[in-house]
Amino acid sequence: MAKIFVITYSMYGHINAMAESVVKGLKKAGAEVGRYQIAETLSDEVLAKMHAPPKADFPIITPEDLPKADGFIFGFPTRYGGAPAQVRAFFDATGGLWSSKALAGKPAGFFFSTGSQHGGQEATVLTSLPFLAHHGIIYVPFGYAHPSLLDNSEIVGGSAWGAGTVVNGDGSRLPSQKELEIAEAQGESFAQVAKKLAAK
Ligand SMILES: Cc1cc2nc3c(=O)[nH]c(=O)nc-3n(C[C@H](O)[C@H](O)[C@H](O)COP(=O)(O)O)c2cc1C
Repeated sequence: MAKIFVITYSMYGHINAMAESVVKGLKKAGAEVGRYQIAETLSDEVLAKMHAPPKADFPIITPEDLPKADGFIFGFPTRYGGAPAQVRAFFDATGGLWSSKALAGKPAGFFFSTGSQHGGQEATVLTSLPFLAHHGIIYVPFGYAHPSLLDNSEIVGGSAWGAGTVVNGDGSRLPSQKELEIAEAQGESFAQVAKKLAAK
């Protein structure tokens, strides 16, 4: 059984909702799941101005936690077409693991959210790949492994790079049924890949 950590940063909760489906899929495929969040770096004053609700109740991930997992799925919203600074700050703290190559060979995937349909879901993953590459972490794409990714009859976030949700500029759109199903399928397929790698 592979132990997978689902590690998120979420300001308004959409990523956390997607994570629930990712976790469901991981468990369906027999993975043991650890659920963590990335530490906030903004002050309470700024968060209040951004109308951010209180954080979810998951433990804050530390670099020391990472070697305990066989693989990771990171979920975070797009900020200016890329990863939030909070995610970079976390990876900036993993230099010790980089130096000892502690994460090399472990698999990782991404899921994400944007305000708008073309706000940068794919760009967010593409520009986050160096976090993985420098650690020697193996990037696991989702591919077109769920039929809803090819459904253009309604708005469906996500792509070959992972599950995604489109939340509107004011956050009023919640993850749709199709987006949640894609997230669950990503969790399930990631667990199968991680299990194979962990067995070696
Ligand atoms: C500072 C900032 C920058 C953002 N940049 C983008 C962006 O480049 N493209 C986009 O579509 N949405 C952008 N958004 C909207 C967020 O992606 C959206 O709030 C997020 O996906 C909601 O996820 P959450 O509820 O898990 O925090 C931005 C939001 C903030 C606060």
